[in-house]
Amino acid sequence: MNAPAYVKHAKLKAWVQDMVDLCQPDHVHWCDGSDTEYQQLCQQLVEAGTFTPLNAHKRPHSFLARSDPSDVARVEDRTYICSARKEDAGPTNNWMDPQAMRDTLQPLFKGCMKGRTLYVVPFSMGPLGSPIAHIGIELSDSAYVAVNQRIMTRMGQAVFEVLGENGAFVPCVHSVGAPLAPGQQDVAWPCNPTKYIVHFPQTREIWSYGSGYGGNALLGKKCFALRIASTMGRDQGWLAEHMLILGLTSPQGKKYHVAAAFPSACGKTNFSMLVPPPGFDGWKVTTIGDDIAWIKPSQNGELRAINPEAGYFGVAPGTNFHTNPNCMASLDKNVIFTNVALTDDGDVWWEGMEKDSGHLPTHLIDWQGKDWTPEIARQTGSKAAHPNARFTVAATNNPALDAAWDDPAGVRIDAFIFGGRRSTTVPLVTQARNWTEGVYMAATMGSETTAAAAGQQGVVRRDPFAMLPFMGYNMSDYFQHWLNMGDTLKNTGATLPAIFCVNWFRKGEDGQFVWPGYGENMRVLKWMIDRIEGAAKGRENVFGISPTYEEITWDGLAFSAAQFESVMHIDKPAWREELQLHNSLFQQLAYHLPPELPATQNAIGLRLDA
Ligand code: OXD
Ligand code: MN
Repeated sequence: MNAPAYVKHAKLKAWVQDMVDLCQPDHVHWCDGSDTEYQQLCQQLVEAGTFTPLNAHKRPHSFLARSDPSDVARVEDRTYICSARKEDAGPTNNWMDPQAMRDTLQPLFKGCMKGRTLYVVPFSMGPLGSPIAHIGIELSDSAYVAVNQRIMTRMGQAVFEVLGENGAFVPCVHSVGAPLAPGQQDVAWPCNPTKYIVHFPQTREIWSYGSGYGGNALLGKKCFALRIASTMGRDQGWLAEHMLILGLTSPQGKKYHVAAAFPSACGKTNFSMLVPPPGFDGWKVTTIGDDIAWIKPSQNGELRAINPEAGYFGVAPGTNFHTNPNCMASLDKNVIFTNVALTDDGDVWWEGMEKDSGHLPTHLIDWQGKDWTPEIARQTGSKAAHPNARFTVAATNNPALDAAWDDPAGVRIDAFIFGGRRSTTVPLVTQARNWTEGVYMAATMGSETTAAAAGQQGVVRRDPFAMLPFMGYNMSDYFQHWLNMGDTLKNTGATLPAIFCVNWFRKGEDGQFVWPGYGENMRVLKWMIDRIEGAAKGRENVFGISPTYEEITWDGLAFSAAQFESVMHIDKPAWREELQLHNSLFQQLAYHLPPELPATQNAIGLRLDA
């Protein structure tokens, strides 16, 4: 195991050696992050059958990967938080005693990389050397992981310069769990039916076994930047959040920054790349991040945020020139696509693209490598692209990228938005009257898990702060951490960010979405800015402060006062039921639940009855 001379960190080298001894790879490759290395690894993936190069004219320097059909998404039921005490993982996480888990993992990892190469992938989450950034080292036996990590993080040699001789890093060990016997032919997507995605918060370690896909394998993303980082944030006084960050510049040139939490698959990437609609000339929306925000308080009480990632690992289906033109423009070159369909001319396709072209393709190769035609789809209902098919693309491909996206100092957050997917009950937009009410809104947010029938509410899965699958410690302690952060900021005398709750997804009696969403969400953003500037008074409801019809800018959109009422209306019986559901959540989270939350719930109940 010859570490390059520029690696000066003895402890790191000793750890890599220990992992080599355990996993027994045939080769060790220290990634330098260079373009040459990226191209060589991509070529190697082509030769292994993992990558199909796409049409060099239509999609230059881009590849398609098809995963094993059993390895297509994050595996929440195989994800563990191994804190010393079960209570510290909390009721929303799978927990196992750390030593019991180590005893389980040891035999799985022993010899798991035989016949393969171990890639040492050094990465910085956040701008290199930023006081808000942190470093990880992922050891993986997957070249697919190495090339994806080069896009998703600041990866390569420079990380070792920041680390020096004894800098702190999060050790991440990843194996697809598919050792090769001598002479054994590899498959295009090695993986193992046994999967473990394991976090040891005390020692800040990540161990992942059996999957090569997305958040299971690109360990900087959900494992580090959310689960491990949330515990670091708790201990060190900052926030690691499942939030996009966008910049909003007014026609007068005043710039605001908004961080917004939505559960997975609720359009975070779309919102972060929003194109203002007609009627908003001079307004500009720019992307800092599409999925994760690390937020630290500065000395003067500002909250400064960075996007720890350097790329987007977004869901392809549903993305088109109507829902997200900036994203479509980002995908024109240098992209890794996973589990989308292949067109006959070597380009990619996914459901939703027919809205742009006006028709379905006559023939495709689907995400499993099988023939697909509209007729087959009609008969079998089969999708050309897997619903969780992804693109991996560098942030620098995004035409709407914010000039400060890579600023080590981060950007100042002026507002937080929390949004769930609810067909009823929760209004289009409401501002919390204070920090505690905002924490309440975030703690109780939820999304419907089943397709709701016309006018009916589906099953609501509570997803506090959109962090349910990503929380690295006890959820109630996390609520307390947010309340404490509010107190710390208040003590500096600084103005706290405004907090809003949104719901783009209310449906009418006909079962259709009432609010047009996408670029039209700019109208809601503009009202938020008016609130921050004191230009909109709003009206109080039981839940917070909402806009009047007149306070929203309607230029360029026909949306009647009656339609507005249908997305804003507070249905008292529905809210009484809603508060009961909040009760169930609070019962589940009773251990360490901050008393401020039931107190806020009580106050809402009293206002409802008034
Ligand atoms: C994601 C997710 O992939 O939230 O970002 O699942
Ligand atoms: Mn996400």
